Amino acid sequence: MANSTIASAAELKRHLFYETSHSPALADLVGYEKAKEIVDFCFIANPYYPTPEMLRDLADNLPNLIKSYPSSTPIMSQQNLAAVLHVSPEKLIIGNGATELIVLINTTLIDRIAVPIPTFGEYIEKLRDQRDAELYPLDAEQRYELRLPEYLQWLHRRNLRSALIINPGNPTGQFIPLDEMIDFMSAASDLELVVVDESFIDFAGDPVPSLIPVAERFSNLLIIRSMSKHCGVPGLRLGYCYSGNLYLLNRLRRFIPTWNLNTLAEYFLSLLPHTDAAYHEARKRLIAEVRWLHGALQTIRGIDVYPTGANFVLFRLKTAMTAGELQSRLLEEHRMYVRDCSNKVGMGDRHIRVASQGHDNDARLVEALRTLLQ
Ligand SMILES: Cc1ncc(COP(=O)(O)O)c(C=O)c1O
Repeated sequence: MANSTIASAAELKRHLFYETSHSPALADLVGYEKAKEIVDFCFIANPYYPTPEMLRDLADNLPNLIKSYPSSTPIMSQQNLAAVLHVSPEKLIIGNGATELIVLINTTLIDRIAVPIPTFGEYIEKLRDQRDAELYPLDAEQRYELRLPEYLQWLHRRNLRSALIINPGNPTGQFIPLDEMIDFMSAASDLELVVVDESFIDFAGDPVPSLIPVAERFSNLLIIRSMSKHCGVPGLRLGYCYSGNLYLLNRLRRFIPTWNLNTLAEYFLSLLPHTDAAYHEARKRLIAEVRWLHGALQTIRGIDVYPTGANFVLFRLKTAMTAGELQSRLLEEHRMYVRDCSNKVGMGDRHIRVASQGHDNDARLVEALRTLLQ
């Protein structure tokens, strides 16, 4: 049953939010109807893709798709995805969201893994045992910047065999250029596994500065990407991993449930090859809009804005107001929902993350923040 009122600050505080590292879905907080009136800046997904024509196509096919079983082999879907990534289909595994693959990697491939924090929660919460995560706390004074040479030295000192890098980082947005990633991979050849989560890499520049084209050179590299973000389809649950190491992939593939992709997701993948030009247009439009948002946020006194290579921006409040208080006021007074990052391990109570929701919405957010903070 949908709630009928906008959540108050007190309601927000009581919410499950404080028991998980994820922000509650807006519809869970205020109900499906009210959610339509609120701009959700927690939603870190491409707003310009799928195109309206693709959404109509999906809607037209929905009755049939709901009444059909998905394919029992992922090969067609792998071929569709491989066509737009320009890779061999057998080097891909497609998951029910990247989260399915993260959980699988954590439980099948990893004993102990180094995780720079703050991070995306699933990497530390879904290990067989949470003590298997060796947390590498990033320095708040250095804006939580991950410095790869220092990280590698720390990995070696601790005798760690597996490591995670999220590039661009979530929640920080920090982008590590491709040449630095290649240098790290070359120097880390003694590690068993390096998981590189590139869920936001498509927003980092043009051409996309991904490790995929050089992945064959590094047998310990496993790349993960969430399609929720760059393809804008979080509800379809699609993500994939890519590696040049077929042995590594086959160890994972054995545990992928049959029918892990639903029919709507499979149908969406079949649309990718002939909508690729529209995809890249959407991606580049969003990159430009995030740059605008970043610049506009920098003009607001009272916040410290972090550099970003993703489709979101992290900032720190330098005022007496906490992130939780600002989140509540934006929701109640401006009908905007932003991510208070206080519940991220390793982060204080002053950080807010906002994902671009298209220029007009972003401009309204900047004005609302100016009003509340100056
Ligand atoms: C870095 C990162 N990886 C993976 C995911 C999971 O995405 P999904 O399971 O929706 O594909 C997220 C979601 O926020 C993320 O931030």
